[in-house]
Amino acid sequence: MNKHPAWPYPRVLAHRGGGVLAPENTLGAIRTGIAHGFRAVEFDAMLPADDTPILMHDPTLARTAGRTGAVTDFKAAELAQFDVGRWHSPAFAGEPVPTLEQTLALCRREGVWANVEIKPAPGREAATGRMVALQVARAFSDQLRPGGDRQESAVPGVPLLSSFSIEALIAARDAVPDLPRGWLVDRVPGDWRPRLDELGCVALHTNQRHLTASLAAAVKDAGIWLFCYTVNEPGRARELLGWGVDAFCTDRIDLIGPDFA
Ligand code: G3P
Ligand code: MG
Repeated sequence: MNKHPAWPYPRVLAHRGGGVLAPENTLGAIRTGIAHGFRAVEFDAMLPADDTPILMHDPTLARTAGRTGAVTDFKAAELAQFDVGRWHSPAFAGEPVPTLEQTLALCRREGVWANVEIKPAPGREAATGRMVALQVARAFSDQLRPGGDRQESAVPGVPLLSSFSIEALIAARDAVPDLPRGWLVDRVPGDWRPRLDELGCVALHTNQRHLTASLAAAVKDAGIWLFCYTVNEPGRARELLGWGVDAFCTDRIDLIGPDFA
């Protein structure tokens, strides 16, 4: 296997904050993860009508806020009035849509490392990549280091950005070159190596469903960090770790704990 710096971050992350135990992409979800011992989290950051990134997975509000309209119809301050907890369970009723700034402040206070997924609403790819990167850079300005987007100089506490959107990744890189980035894919494409080089990404984030032992070995042999989503069965988690997968996120924070790896 190629010698390259070891993954410097926690290896098990709570997906969307608190997995299935809490409403996704809320501060309550991250607190739930923390209560289960997690010190690493993945969440989705989107740009609403103004330039203030918030946490949200879907571009529309129906599923989590129970109302019509798109995220881009509202400003962050308006979204903060919406209840995105009630859909999950009565205990979380009243959970608001948090800003990325609030979320990163909570993570810093609690010592939680973040994989910030840049999740652009359609047509907002570059703007979202840029604004998310700038917000992360503001929150971690005291820890940012020149060349921090390279494996050998990545800072363990600084978030890792990732996105399915190449346009968003390029905009994030142009805005804050020193933040580390991962390219998110469902299936690993044949040209993964030159694409990662072009994007200057340190990591490949892929759907665990389609990963094979040989593909994992090829990625690791190339010196790329390998991350999987979303791993909910302990047996599969053990298999992936055995293939050399560096880290994964899980919805089942009740079954797969922070020290599983
Ligand atoms: O970042 C990994 C994973 O969250 C990607 O899928 O749809 O849950 O954001 P999704
Ligand atoms: Mg995500």
